[in-house]
Amino acid sequence: MTAPNKTSSMFGAQAPAFEPGQAAYSSAQESDGLLSPDQIIKQYLEKHLDVYGELRRGWENPQGDIHFQKRLEKVDQSQKNPRGRRDLFRIMLQIADQIDEATSAFTISRPKDPDVRAAILDLCMAPGGFAFSALKRSPFAKLCGIALPPELGGFEMVMRKWNKDKRVSVHFGDITMLVGEMGFDVPAGHVDAGIFSEEKIFEGQKFDLVLCDGQILRNQPRSEYREPREARRLTASQLVFAMQHIREGGTLVQLFKPKPMQAKQSSFYMVAKGVRSDSNTALRAVAEWKEIWAEATFTSEALRGNNEAVDTGDSIDDEIWMERKGKGGDKALAVLDEFGPTLLKMAEPVIAIQAAALRSVACYEGLGTKENQGLAVKQVTM
Ligand SMILES: C[S@@+](CC[C@H](N)C(=O)[O-])C[C@H]1O[C@@H](n2cnc3c(N)ncnc32)[C@H](O)[C@@H]1O
Repeated sequence: MTAPNKTSSMFGAQAPAFEPGQAAYSSAQESDGLLSPDQIIKQYLEKHLDVYGELRRGWENPQGDIHFQKRLEKVDQSQKNPRGRRDLFRIMLQIADQIDEATSAFTISRPKDPDVRAAILDLCMAPGGFAFSALKRSPFAKLCGIALPPELGGFEMVMRKWNKDKRVSVHFGDITMLVGEMGFDVPAGHVDAGIFSEEKIFEGQKFDLVLCDGQILRNQPRSEYREPREARRLTASQLVFAMQHIREGGTLVQLFKPKPMQAKQSSFYMVAKGVRSDSNTALRAVAEWKEIWAEATFTSEALRGNNEAVDTGDSIDDEIWMERKGKGGDKALAVLDEFGPTLLKMAEPVIAIQAAALRSVACYEGLGTKENQGLAVKQVTM
C-alpha cells in the first residue's frame, strides 16, 4: 500500500486533494471538462493504494471477464433446482453470521421495551438467509420482508416455515414500483401504469434493523426504459425505504467483506449502526434519492415510443441521462478532501481481500475485470 503518509498536508483545508493537470485526470477532463464521482474516487484510490492499482491493471484482461461471466451463468442455473436454492440460502446465512460476528449488525441491541416490539425489515429478502440469521439472534422480534415474486424472476423463499411463522410477513412485489412510498404520481400514459403500486406497505412502522441486499436479476422481465437505469432505481428505492423506516440512533459505519464466499467479487457490505434518519442530512439525502428514482422512472424517451400522449415531463434520452449521472465530480472532490483518509483506511482491507483472492485464479495474469470495477456499495446493511 502507498500509505497516505502526507495526509495532513494533502487533505488539509487549503490543499486540494488533487492538483489540476495531474496525468490521472486528463482523459475525463478532455472529454467534457468534468470528471464523474466514480472516476474521481477510482483515481484517488489508485493514487493512494498500490493494491487497488494492481486490481485496475487486471481489468484489462479479457480472460477475467469470461471467468466472471461463467460464474454468473452458474448462479442463474443453480437457482433452477432445489439444491442450488438451498446452497444459496446457506451462503447468505453464513455471510450474515460472519457480518454479525465482525460488527454485531444482525443483533438488535435496543433494550427490551414491552410497548415497542423489536422489528426487522428485509427489503429484498429471498431466499431468506439474512432474515433467518437476524431472527435467530432476536427470536422475539417481528420481521417484515419484500420479495420479488419468482414468476417475475425473483429468488424463491427457502427459509424454513416462513409462511407459517407468525413473526414473519412477506410482501411479494417489485420494490422499485412502489410509487406510494416514493411520494409521486404516475404520469399519464406511462407504459408501466398498471404495475406501479400506490400502497404504502409499512406506513407508520419503524424497524430496528433494515437489510438492503437487492441485486438486479437478469431473469426479471422489465420494460425497455428501465434497463440503463435499473441499478439506480433499485438502489434509490432501497435507500428511501430504509431511511423512512429505520428507528433513530447514533452513527457508525463499517465495511465488511465476507470470506471466502465473496472474496473474488467486488461486492462488500456496508454496516451503518444507529442511523440518524431524522437528521437534516438524512432528510436531504432521501429527497435526493427520490428525485433520482423519479427521473430514472418517468423521464425516459423510450417511454414515449409512438405515443405522444405519454407524459414524460422534460424527457431525457438515455445518453444525456448517462452523461448527467456522470457529472458531480466536484462533490466527490469535496467529500474526499475531508473523508479521503478515512475512506482509504476502510477500503484497503476490502480491496486487499479481493486482490489476494484473484491472484489465485488461474486465468489472471493481472487482476480483476471491467465488470468488477469500482467500489459500488452493492449490498448495504443498516
Ligand atoms: C442476493 S439476493 C438477497 C439474498 C438475501 N439477503 C438473503 O439473505 O437470502 C438479491 C435479492 O434481490 C431481489 N430483488 C432483485 N430485484 C428486486 C426488485 N426489483 N424488487 C424486489 N426484490 C428484488 C431478488 O429477488 C433477491 O431475492
